[in-house]
Amino acid sequence: MAEAVTQLVSTTQTKIQTQDTPERLSRPTLRFLTCGSVDDGKSTLIGRLLYDQSLIFDDQLAALERDSKKHGTDGANIDFALLVDGLEAEREQGITIDVAYRYFTTPRRSFIVADTPGHEQYTRNMVTGASNADLAILLIDARKGLLTQTCRHATIVSLMGIRKIVLAVNKIDLVDFDEARFNEIVAAFMAFAAPLGFAHIQPIPLSARHGDNMSVPSTRMPWYQGPSLITYLEEVDVELDRSTEPFRMPVQWVNRPHLDFRGFSGTLASGSIKVGDGVTVAASGRASTIARIVTADGDQESAEAGQSVTLTLADEVDIARGDILCTPKDRPEVSDQFAAKLIWMSDDKLLPGRSYLLKSASRSVPVTVTELKYRLDVNTFSELAAKTLGLNEVGYCHLATTTPLAFDPYASNHTTGAFILIDRASNATVAAGLIAHGLRRATHIHRQGLAVGKADRARIKHQKPAVLWFTGLSGSGKSTIANLVESRLYAHNVHTILLDGDNIRHGLNKDLGFAEVDRVENIRRIGEVAKLMTEAGLIVLCSFISPFRADRDLARSLVDDGEFIEIFVDTPIEDCIARDPKGLYKKAIAGEIKNFTGIDQPYESPLTPELVLGKESAQQAAAKVIAKLIEGGFIDEIDNPDDWSI
Ligand code: ADX
Repeated sequence: MAEAVTQLVSTTQTKIQTQDTPERLSRPTLRFLTCGSVDDGKSTLIGRLLYDQSLIFDDQLAALERDSKKHGTDGANIDFALLVDGLEAEREQGITIDVAYRYFTTPRRSFIVADTPGHEQYTRNMVTGASNADLAILLIDARKGLLTQTCRHATIVSLMGIRKIVLAVNKIDLVDFDEARFNEIVAAFMAFAAPLGFAHIQPIPLSARHGDNMSVPSTRMPWYQGPSLITYLEEVDVELDRSTEPFRMPVQWVNRPHLDFRGFSGTLASGSIKVGDGVTVAASGRASTIARIVTADGDQESAEAGQSVTLTLADEVDIARGDILCTPKDRPEVSDQFAAKLIWMSDDKLLPGRSYLLKSASRSVPVTVTELKYRLDVNTFSELAAKTLGLNEVGYCHLATTTPLAFDPYASNHTTGAFILIDRASNATVAAGLIAHGLRRATHIHRQGLAVGKADRARIKHQKPAVLWFTGLSGSGKSTIANLVESRLYAHNVHTILLDGDNIRHGLNKDLGFAEVDRVENIRRIGEVAKLMTEAGLIVLCSFISPFRADRDLARSLVDDGEFIEIFVDTPIEDCIARDPKGLYKKAIAGEIKNFTGIDQPYESPLTPELVLGKESAQQAAAKVIAKLIEGGFIDEIDNPDDWSI
């Protein structure tokens, strides 16, 4: 979809170049947003703009019609609802965004208007429309003056990084073209908007219905000396040139039509490139140079922001959908923690601590809001203490992702700095996010590309790495089974490591106890260690009570798909108490040990473990684990399956 927008824009520009004057050439397409409710006359204003400049090119219309048929939601009619960069993920999910893009040209400039309805769910539409706009028109009904909704619109427009606005005081005919009324509204708005940081506010008194100050200056308001709306839009300077910013291209797909071609397709979010330029994969740090720039019209020597291209690189580099290609000279931040503004779009409230899915520029990663710093009162712009966010509320928070994310602050890049949050259970988009900055040291530490990879290390060991995660109550038999499995693997020259609760707690985790927070940290660190060990190409056996589902899921998310084998050693607590190998249950029941799993702290059983053990002998259980490894192709077939001697 994003490409469709880009293509339409470039069609417009090509057309202008063949027909018009150098003056017009120097003005790039202006993308603007209109905000206001139906009552304010928004539809009339847009209708009037389109009607007055009935200069829509036939081929543009044909392209739009084609597109509408393919993707439209409005039957046979033209549907301009094309999504903008960055929020494209929402379209992939089939969520219709109520934004219509309309195209028109005047002799001096061409325009794309994002028309966003002003109903209840307005933030969703406004955010979508504003993320790619250079300017906003805020509509005010001259009779009603400044409304709460106007303030909200202005706040969101400012959050979305729009620096110039037109304050369109509409229906001025209905207040008898009264200069005093106009001045009163302008003064009220200027006072409200002072902290919002707009670079320029252009107030214009107009009547969209009668055309006053729309295309030509009105004769009915001699007191107004400023430009008409169209004149202003034609002349306004906005910082449109994203091609001078550092190069960023999120990879939308890896294009591999046959073995001899491996290209990376996407739209340049910013910057420009040419064949021979160095490129780096933001998150991994891998580097190469651009070999070819392939487009629908053949190879090009260079490309710039807004263009959709397929790049081939000089070296075989590991790149996947969602990676961001960037210039080696100015790389995005890479961090798993950052601060961001959130615009909440759901009736379900924000739950800090809950795991959501963050989607940004073709990437998708689990994320939690670790801290909600404040909620913004959109009417007064003051920061209020808050525990949650509701529909249409705006907040500032800290977030943590499970894997590091490459990003730019939203202020410097609207594509790599914007994201949406998705509720993992309902799959609904619940928020739009604008990244402020990374948190902690990780921000300025870039991942170093390593010459030898995980697969290389595993290959010389003739195995595939895996994590065998044994979970279950204390005394359930995890360690006994894990020991047997490791002995067996060792006997067959399989390279392993066994991480065991009691042992790790004597070293790496000796600072941790058994309170819930400590257990979470215990498993987090072990998950990280297990991940490193898989990178060494090892089969990693982990034997930990790990009582909480969310923490085990976190450990799972750290390694590659299919590598994590969760093994539930499901021994009933009565049996564990009867065995009591370390005498700990006795003490726990007597109250001498606190926070003991199964006694005064819960154990959350796995919901979909890869393997459940507990009923069989330890040797039979170990044999099942080995069989699982063979079945998954992690190790080769083992001879003499009944021989347990080392
Ligand atoms: S986990 O819950 O954080 O995964 P872990 O497996 O590392 O626990 O450590 C559990 C081991 O610590 C038990 O096998 C037992 O020997 C010992 N232990 C001491 N106190 C407790 C307790 N309160 N709850 C559970 N295990 C305890």
